[in-house]
Amino acid sequence: MDTGFSAEESWRHVERLASEIGSRSVGAPAVDKAADYIADQLASYGYQVERQSFPFQRYIDQGSQITVERPHQLAIGAGVMQLSAQGEVTAALVDVGLGRPSDFDAKTVKGKVALARRGGISFDEKAANAMAAGAIGLIVSNNEPGLFEGSLRTPVSIPVVAITPEDGQRLRALLNEKETVVRLAVKAHVQEGTTQNVVGTRPGDRAGAVIVGGHYDSVMAGPGANDNASGVGVALEVARALAARDYPYTVKVIAFSAEEIGHLGSRHYVSALSPKERQSIVAMINLDMVGVGNNLTVAGTGQLVAIGVDAARKAGYAAARLYGQGGGASDHTAFLDAGVPALYITWGPDPRYHSAQDKTHHVQPRLLAATGQIVLDVLKFLSNG
Ligand code: BES
Ligand code: ZN
Repeated sequence: MDTGFSAEESWRHVERLASEIGSRSVGAPAVDKAADYIADQLASYGYQVERQSFPFQRYIDQGSQITVERPHQLAIGAGVMQLSAQGEVTAALVDVGLGRPSDFDAKTVKGKVALARRGGISFDEKAANAMAAGAIGLIVSNNEPGLFEGSLRTPVSIPVVAITPEDGQRLRALLNEKETVVRLAVKAHVQEGTTQNVVGTRPGDRAGAVIVGGHYDSVMAGPGANDNASGVGVALEVARALAARDYPYTVKVIAFSAEEIGHLGSRHYVSALSPKERQSIVAMINLDMVGVGNNLTVAGTGQLVAIGVDAARKAGYAAARLYGQGGGASDHTAFLDAGVPALYITWGPDPRYHSAQDKTHHVQPRLLAATGQIVLDVLKFLSNG
């Protein structure tokens, strides 16, 4: 089936965004260059282009640090979590597993610093559970190599920092032997600015709109080729392919900013919708990390997930289905939270996730093409249904 989707064109967008423009961490000039590039592409396909600006705040780490005070002195590198409290606390450390409510015993956590592993539940939930149990600080150890740039969605009143899995193991090993006292120092300054979502619209004859989107910002650590120039590259090619046919619904192709610091772009977009606009959305399809890995996952609203799995099967891929938010939070969650039907498509695992190595040459055109085909097939199904 010729869908009009070109894997090469899609890959070329990834190359432009990740290799030529580079790391697109919100606050850096590269973000606006990327927005210009995306806007130009959408305009060239005949879309009406709108820039939706919104304010952001981000923490710039200025050397947050964990120091083990007892049983012996040890310095551990830590990264501040966005929206953590600042300041310094010193207390005994307590291991709280994944940080689920059942992992806490309020008696032993009160007044201490909790050490939780990443995974299972969101950082916000870990922090809320830790605070409810009386913890005065939270350390989250990564479940993948290296540090990570994590983010809370709402400000919290205790310091929350990230450490590597190796340092997590070191702390747990110490804890198993002796009482361990740590000092947690969070030093960051708040950078404020504005950034923008890029929204391309192609009006349809039928009432209702479909949204295809993905975030175009990246973490500071790397160029964000798979995360998420890949999703934007596919969304742009889907935009081009749809412009060449008669599609009944209004099509909106949206490149969200500030996903990596708490899904700010998608949340801003959803919060700015009138009830009528919100109800007119037939489906939101979020593409995040669609160019690396062997496993395809579709998540989101039940009915859309079923349609997505069928479309994947037709494209020759068996997809794992997840109902609800799916692994790794992303821009579809703002839509789901607002009751908008949403579908999240992602490939994985990506061993270079959030690293300096997340480069264009690791992104596979074949996966971009498969994703594009699935999206176009889902959209076709929705317009026939
Ligand atoms: N693309 C990732 C989400 C993801 C991670 C998908 C791993 C598949 C596998 C996204 O850009 C991201 O990193 N999200 C953050 C949350 C955000 C609020 C900082 C995350 O999942 O940690
Ligand atoms: Zn992402």
